[in-house]
Amino acid sequence: MLDAQNLVKSYPSAGRRLEVLRGVSLHMAARESVALTGESGSGKSTLLHLLGCLDTPDAGRISLQDTVLHDLDETGRAAMRRSRIAVIFQQLNLIPSLTVAQNLSFQARLAERFDADWTAELTDRLGLADLLDRYPEQLSGGQQQRVAIGRAVALRPEVVLADEPTGNLDEATADTVLDLMLDLARDSGAAFLMVTHSPRLAARLDRRLHLEKGRIV
Ligand SMILES: Nc1ncnc2c1ncn2[C@@H]1O[C@H](COP(=O)(O)OP(=O)(O)O)[C@@H](O)[C@H]1O
Ligand SMILES: [Mg+2]
Repeated sequence: MLDAQNLVKSYPSAGRRLEVLRGVSLHMAARESVALTGESGSGKSTLLHLLGCLDTPDAGRISLQDTVLHDLDETGRAAMRRSRIAVIFQQLNLIPSLTVAQNLSFQARLAERFDADWTAELTDRLGLADLLDRYPEQLSGGQQQRVAIGRAVALRPEVVLADEPTGNLDEATADTVLDLMLDLARDSGAAFLMVTHSPRLAARLDRRLHLEKGRIV
């Protein structure tokens, strides 16, 4: 399903290049959940940005099913982000002027993939039914996180990429949120990749990849 081969990525740094990824390969099957771990600065977010079509590699190949991602132009990458790949960040990027209900359906509607039954089910399973008319600023961190997850899976993406999505939450809330993400990703058929530095959370996913010195070890 999602396949990356020999990804290389560097950034300009003090007149030189900082080599962040030095040949990263990975493969994810549908419904598979994978934890991505590694020290701060090891390139986890960089890798997620490449897989999520937010940035392009210097070299290497990425494909999702039959679609080649690494040489898409900005328009092509935007289309992938709109309809096939969802990214959940620690900064949730909920839209402050929209209610919970509107935040949940916004992206799915944009992608013309809004499904009222699926959205109602998500709302229920995420415990958001009583919060639909609120604005993001009127929610707790854990509640906002659940809206961000609902928004991501509402459009039934093929891949959900999450960058330390539970980093701001206490352990119990983080566990609940991870349960939900895993359930919903599996039920929607998506492959799920999560960056975390919690070994405890990583252990709950199917598999773990560790990034070190620009490579997966
Ligand atoms: N846009 C950028 N420009 C320059 N350097 C960057 C950029 N993004 C990340 N870096 C650097 O690349 C390295 C890896 O960063 P990142 O992928 O954010 O690591 P992680 O998510 O594992 O903490 C760090 O040294 C970081 O400072
Ligand atoms: Mg990061």
